[in-house]
Amino acid sequence: MKSLDKITDIEDLRLIAKRKVPKMFYDYVDSGSWTQTTYRNNETDFDRIKLRQRVLVDMDNRSLASHMIDTPVKMPVAIAPTGFTGMMWADGEIHAAKAAEKFGVPFSLSTMSICSIEDVATHTSAPFWFQLYVMRDKVFMQNLINRAKAANCSALILTADLQVLGQRHKDIKNGLSAPPKPTFANILNLMTKPEWCMNMLGTKRRTFGNIVGHAQGVGDLSSLSSWTAEQFDPALSWDDVARIKELWGGKLIIKGIMEPEDAVLAAKSGADALVVSNHGGRQLDGAPSSIAALSDIVQAVKAERSDIEVWLDSGIRSGQDVLKAVAMGATGTMIGRAFLYGLGAYGEDGVRRALELIYKECDVSMAFCGHTDVQQVTDDILVKGTFEHLKSGMPHIAPMPW
Ligand SMILES: Cc1cc2nc3c(=O)[nH]c(=O)nc-3n(C[C@H](O)[C@H](O)[C@H](O)COP(=O)(O)O)c2cc1C
Repeated sequence: MKSLDKITDIEDLRLIAKRKVPKMFYDYVDSGSWTQTTYRNNETDFDRIKLRQRVLVDMDNRSLASHMIDTPVKMPVAIAPTGFTGMMWADGEIHAAKAAEKFGVPFSLSTMSICSIEDVATHTSAPFWFQLYVMRDKVFMQNLINRAKAANCSALILTADLQVLGQRHKDIKNGLSAPPKPTFANILNLMTKPEWCMNMLGTKRRTFGNIVGHAQGVGDLSSLSSWTAEQFDPALSWDDVARIKELWGGKLIIKGIMEPEDAVLAAKSGADALVVSNHGGRQLDGAPSSIAALSDIVQAVKAERSDIEVWLDSGIRSGQDVLKAVAMGATGTMIGRAFLYGLGAYGEDGVRRALELIYKECDVSMAFCGHTDVQQVTDDILVKGTFEHLKSGMPHIAPMPW
């Protein structure tokens, strides 16, 4: 195990990942759609919420332990599902899943992962969560659900905000593909990433493991890009959610909720948890940050069905962000880029370090705010005037200079 003591925040991991990972994959992670305004606001809205420091409170025996659905967690954080993860580091999904298992938080595997459901199941012992993109090819989708069941996945995450694809300019300009095409620019860039190349030469997992060889008509890479472009189902609706819930028959998490009306529908659908998420600012640019959408959703859902859990992702880069999300009413959070930067920097060790950093920041900040149990944290730890505006979903409005 590598000692990463000098890595002191997620930003350190981001900078190292930027140096080590081929440009097209780094850019794929560190970007949002169109103007990237929502992507940026996810972070800046967190920054503007201020914490209240309390002193001379007994801060001994602290605990961040909690549950996300029925999974015990060392802190209220899960690894979010992300596509192409095995391109940040060879066999990336396996490494991230192992780090999550050892640390004591859930791992979610994307439909668009490089390592397959079976690959991850073979290399881990804790059950993981599987994220489903609903495809037009219903036979393929049903098989995916059955494969997730056979792999003992303990929850299905239905991503609801990707019926159509938001555009990220950099992916178009870079010609994103897995594996990268042997163009002059790519070869030149790969020559500056020796560790990445060596690791990739040591694995056979270099394209979408859940799809190639499983979906009809997708036997090789040339047909994959056209298949994915055609396959995301724009007709997905709440009726399908009911069908998927029945097919799956286990815990269901609906991810990508940004409005109270949709949260109420998610509660009515019988889901066990919903994730307030704008997909990390990668889908509807111009949408509010997730933290700005959270409070109204918590309130709407409480009135409808108090047992559905409300989680949040998008913009979490520190344990303080986790604490703020909990204070605003989330009982769990998910991290995307924060773990991907760790993975791109140091593989499994980097994901472990990302989790350690978030844990420590959350724990110590909670103590500074005079609390010892994360499950008891409420918005009384937040400074008045720095968060209430988020309750109406409004972005932060800077005070006038006069
Ligand atoms: C590189 C990348 C790939 C992603 N791929 C998926 C995916 O395949 N399925 C999915 O449901 N969400 C996907 N997401 C969204 C994440 O699950 C999560 O909502 C988002 O990363 C949270 O924002 P954060 O990165 O600011 O933490 C992806 C996000 C990133 C950054």
